[in-house]
Amino acid sequence: MTQPVENQTILITGATDGLGKKVALDLAARKAGVILHGRSPEKGWAVVEEIRKATGNRKIGYYNADFSSLDEVKALAGKIRADQNRLDVLINNAGIGPGPAGSGREESRDGYELRFAVNYLATFLPTRLLLPLLRDSAPSRIVNVASAGQQSIDFDDVMLENGYNGLRAYRQSKLAMIMFTFDLAGQLKDSGITVNCLHPATLMPTSMVLETDYFAGTMDTVAQGAEAVEYLAASAELDGVSGAYFNGKMRAEAMPQAYDREALRKLRELSRRLTRPDDTA
Ligand SMILES: NC(=O)c1ccc[n+]([C@@H]2O[C@H](COP(=O)([O-])OP(=O)(O)OC[C@H]3O[C@@H](n4cnc5c(N)ncnc54)[C@H](OP(=O)(O)O)[C@@H]3O)[C@@H](O)[C@H]2O)c1
Repeated sequence: MTQPVENQTILITGATDGLGKKVALDLAARKAGVILHGRSPEKGWAVVEEIRKATGNRKIGYYNADFSSLDEVKALAGKIRADQNRLDVLINNAGIGPGPAGSGREESRDGYELRFAVNYLATFLPTRLLLPLLRDSAPSRIVNVASAGQQSIDFDDVMLENGYNGLRAYRQSKLAMIMFTFDLAGQLKDSGITVNCLHPATLMPTSMVLETDYFAGTMDTVAQGAEAVEYLAASAELDGVSGAYFNGKMRAEAMPQAYDREALRKLRELSRRLTRPDDTA
């Protein structure tokens, strides 16, 4: 049976700013046990203190890992598995945006195209490594924060060595998250773990939107995006719903490649090769 939110432990990646921080604050106010993840201990612990003060909730934890390093991602999953005896909801939210228009291609510490690595591979790997904990806590949920900005993956140039631009890199990484969601939902059928993804809201005024000049201004509020993420994470209406893509709180269609089984298989095999997980479930 699904636990009430106040008995749940919820991990939010990229919870030190923007959407993730707001979701963490809201779920802490609802008395959930909240685990924040970030890439700067100073910023992370300051946010923990802020949320504790604002909500009175003491069940707030913090883990640090730079998602541009797969070793750090692996170590994070290992620490969480060692420390926590349950995980009811995993919200994969951390990400980097397209960057300023005209900015050049960047690589992760493992030598992969940076947006593919941080936004996608650092979702794929910890999710796989945390499956045993999610399975032990079932019914449990995985929520992948993707985007309506999607671009199909060219399997001959996943690392975007030719014709790089930041928007394409961002959109490719977001479609990869959606494809992973659909593929994993199939694998987790009847496991008690559901996995869904969403476009939270459009052009919220967060760091990643404010730092880019690809878009002319902002549109929705962070509160709107947070409401949608919290709906996928905690609404009883979605008990048992898995393998779906939402635009806000509405079921929606992703780009066609996300429904191509052969593309899902190719992405799965590539992701396993690139991340070399040694203890996937
Ligand atoms: N903003 C929008 O309109 C919009 C629309 C659609 C989808 N989204 C998605 O919403 C999610 C949250 O984005 P946001 O808008 O809230 O952006 P944001 O304010 O820039 O927050 C991004 C979060 O990810 C963390 N992060 C970035 N790079 C990281 C790395 N290398 N390792 C670990 N953590 C890292 C950031 O840490 P720091 O605090 O250290 O920077 C921050 O906590 C993203 O997945 C984004 O693609 C946003």
